Amino acid sequence: MKKLVFATNNKHKLHEIKQMLGDNFELVSLREIGCTEDVPENQDTLEGNASQKSHFIYKKYGFDCFADDTGLEVEALNNAPGVYSARYAGPQRDSTDNINKLLFELDKINCRKARFRTVISLLINGNEILFEGIVNGHILTHARGEKGFGYDPVFQPDGYAVSFAEMNMEEKNRISHRGEAFRKLITYLNNL
Ligand code: IMP
Repeated sequence: MKKLVFATNNKHKLHEIKQMLGDNFELVSLREIGCTEDVPENQDTLEGNASQKSHFIYKKYGFDCFADDTGLEVEALNNAPGVYSARYAGPQRDSTDNINKLLFELDKINCRKARFRTVISLLINGNEILFEGIVNGHILTHARGEKGFGYDPVFQPDGYAVSFAEMNMEEKNRISHRGEAFRKLITYLNNL
């Protein structure tokens, strides 16, 4: 079994990724390697943040690891909130506040096209490989559904009549940005 650090303590993400990995890998969180400090992520691109986090863990703790960064990119807002998605409405990083701000910004705007984009930086044996996953969709006018997290209640993926927050985790994983990026990561790791 390959031991890998996933540079996160977000329990939603750990749970999602563990489901996708099955028993092929031993996935270890930051807490499990004794990393309780804030991992820096102050770059202005998703690629920069993912890479900064994986390099920080690899250098400081010496484990093979991967880190991800995700943003919601809204076409009519010049791809905002993008890398600032978590703190769009302020440093409190509150999902309801973020959704309300997004709906306010899009009020009276007809084009509601948006995409989620995930970038993963894998650092293994001193080499870095980047993986990307994208899901296209649009921003609803009202929040719908109780599942998921973040912007899920207002994001409806193309080809579906439900929001991400109305899908169960398996359905979402099958089509999501993170699902796609992580499937690429897993395919790569299985072929090492
Ligand atoms: P992170 O890089 O995965 O921490 O994502 C940054 C922010 O993007 C999160 O705080 C959420 O607001 C948003 N986000 C990321 N992934 C998702 C998702 O799958 N659904 C809804 N919002 C997400």
